[in-house]
Amino acid sequence: MEKAEDGSQGFLPPFEHFATQAIHVGQEPEQWTSMAVVPPISLSTTFKQQAPGQHRGFEYSRSGNPTRNCLEKAVAALDGAKYCLAYASGLAATMNIAHLLKMGDTVICMDDVYGGTNRYFRKVASRMGVKITFVDCSKLECLEAAITPDTKLVWLETPTNPTLKVIDIQSCADVVHKHKDIIIVVDNTFMSAYFQRPLSLGADICMYSATKYMNGHSDVVMGLVSVNCDDLYERLKFLQNALGAVPSPFDCYLCNRGLKTLQIRMKQHFYNAQVVAQYLESNPRVEKVIYPGLPSHPQHELMKRQSTGCPGMVTFYIKGNLEQAEIFLKNLKLFALAESLGGYESLAEHPAIMTHASVPEEEREVLGINDTLIRLSIGLEDAQDILEDLEQALKAAVPEHMVHT
Ligand SMILES: Cc1ncc(COP(=O)(O)O)c(C=O)c1O
Repeated sequence: MEKAEDGSQGFLPPFEHFATQAIHVGQEPEQWTSMAVVPPISLSTTFKQQAPGQHRGFEYSRSGNPTRNCLEKAVAALDGAKYCLAYASGLAATMNIAHLLKMGDTVICMDDVYGGTNRYFRKVASRMGVKITFVDCSKLECLEAAITPDTKLVWLETPTNPTLKVIDIQSCADVVHKHKDIIIVVDNTFMSAYFQRPLSLGADICMYSATKYMNGHSDVVMGLVSVNCDDLYERLKFLQNALGAVPSPFDCYLCNRGLKTLQIRMKQHFYNAQVVAQYLESNPRVEKVIYPGLPSHPQHELMKRQSTGCPGMVTFYIKGNLEQAEIFLKNLKLFALAESLGGYESLAEHPAIMTHASVPEEEREVLGINDTLIRLSIGLEDAQDILEDLEQALKAAVPEHMVHT
């Protein structure tokens, strides 16, 4: 099979200088008196001032920290952005963005977003007088019809989780920007900065749960937000300090380190996921595969138009019922049965019982999250070993007599 390395499969070409920027932007040894090549972990909570109000850019670690600064500069470069701000988690980033709003403002949120985002808007922001409307933004006419004079924020996530629906960012931004003062946010967690640049597709804010691909090693919980607009940055920078949900310097160090291999990790996730998706699609024990890198995906062409490739997320429906799904998951040996995604290790999970249990059953049914749906986060192991694990677990789960039903 063709290797997914240079966008040659019809995706956008890779962003220029990506790996170089990941390694060098914000990391200049000259910023330290020691000339450290690797940014030190700056644990000090406070910074000496020469005279009251006279300092070298840092006063107190919540408002600014040297290690965090290195990370934020690198991420801004990778997003093609002017600014980036880091937060204690993806949801902390969401909370900070929501604090741009005031009582009476309305958020239009993609109906199929991460459950925690849905919960935050429904159960937390709504208590502070922010109204929330869930809309299928893959239908532009629905997005357009939902906009009212109170609409101040549109929240997109693409591809969605776990059904990997792809949203046209540029078209949504065009619809939204016909109206004054509406901010459009794209949760870019699934794609990482390597595969998709929402800001260059018209979004105002690009956010991440950096807990996933951006850090990539399943050892940091963090959020990131990139913007180009000076005013938006100033408002968010104020909130970052005023709300205080900042990441620790150690976590910033780890995430900054994770970025150094983002390009090579994402290429390998892409390659491995394609191998897996093709394998599953031809497997008689599998009912249906959802992977935006496959021509069978309904928005495959859109995915190619707006991104440089696909991440390691593959979703499929196993033949049979809940029993088959459970036996499959219990029999996996290389894959860990665990929530989360985007790390170097392969993970498998059952959305209806695990990540999406809080979504009411009727809603899950509408979204296609049923008992036979399985979500895989394909890691960086040898593709052959991943396939062998899937093969033995599928054979254990779906007996021969069910294969041809
Ligand atoms: C797409 C997406 N956005 C946001 C979040 C929230 O991020 P965090 O868990 O870092 O708070 C997650 C977490 O799973 C996610 O998958």
